[in-house]
Amino acid sequence: IFAKPLPYLLAAAVALSACQPSTPAQSAASDGSASATTSSNKVYNVAMNANFPPFESIDSNGKIHGFDVDLMDAMARAGNFKVRYKNQPWDGIFATLKGGENDILISGITITDERRQTMAFSEPYFEVKQVILVPKGQSITSVNDLTKLDKVGVTTGTTGDLAAQKILGATSSKIARFENLPLVIKEIESGGVQAMVSDSAVVGHYIKNNGDKGFSMVEVPDFDVEQYGIAVRPEDSALLQTLNQSLQKVRDSGEYEQIYSKYFAK
Ligand code: ARG
Repeated sequence: IFAKPLPYLLAAAVALSACQPSTPAQSAASDGSASATTSSNKVYNVAMNANFPPFESIDSNGKIHGFDVDLMDAMARAGNFKVRYKNQPWDGIFATLKGGENDILISGITITDERRQTMAFSEPYFEVKQVILVPKGQSITSVNDLTKLDKVGVTTGTTGDLAAQKILGATSSKIARFENLPLVIKEIESGGVQAMVSDSAVVGHYIKNNGDKGFSMVEVPDFDVEQYGIAVRPEDSALLQTLNQSLQKVRDSGEYEQIYSKYFAK
């Protein structure tokens, strides 16, 4: 489906391909309590930049919620470990692993070769691709159209930033960088930027919830498919194994699919 040139595809359709339906089975982790056989009482610090709906955002009570939170909660139950969530600025979030401040990052993080140099990633848990969010009245049907715009908005240091650089050049003054997604969206709504490059699932979610604004999503073949992974310190191989096993359990039990449909129902 990614080979199609320019469909105004909703992210749900893109993301759906990442969701391997697994046979629902009775969940062994359904009671959610930590078993007495667990040797460690360690609580892992799990960080995310909660500015990225539907993966993570802050609700009206100041609580972090979203797909990543539900997934990690389910994994913690399945793997008998405990977690504590922390909201962290996107800028510098990777460094908090190394510093020991956080043990796990789950934040819609795309697995890249460069990031693998400093972090270890779990098995992929979600598939997206970079897409272009286009406001009403703007006609973008190719990357060439992107080069004709005045400003293209991205979140600094994301794979959307990299994708924009690929098209416009790393030093292009057309790339307008912002600290987080809501800031880019504010700018696109006010006309300060004429397009945004970001993850399909997030752009699709935004369009779905702002139907009245007439935004559309443009897919271009120049952008690659990306996989989200959960990041840990490279030396924490036991933790990585726990995460991978828990992720598998959550897929096998059907919980992954439930969480998926909660956030990406059509
Ligand atoms: N997937 C993109 C990346 O890895 C964007 C992630 C942004 N996540 C967030 N929670 N703000 O660069």
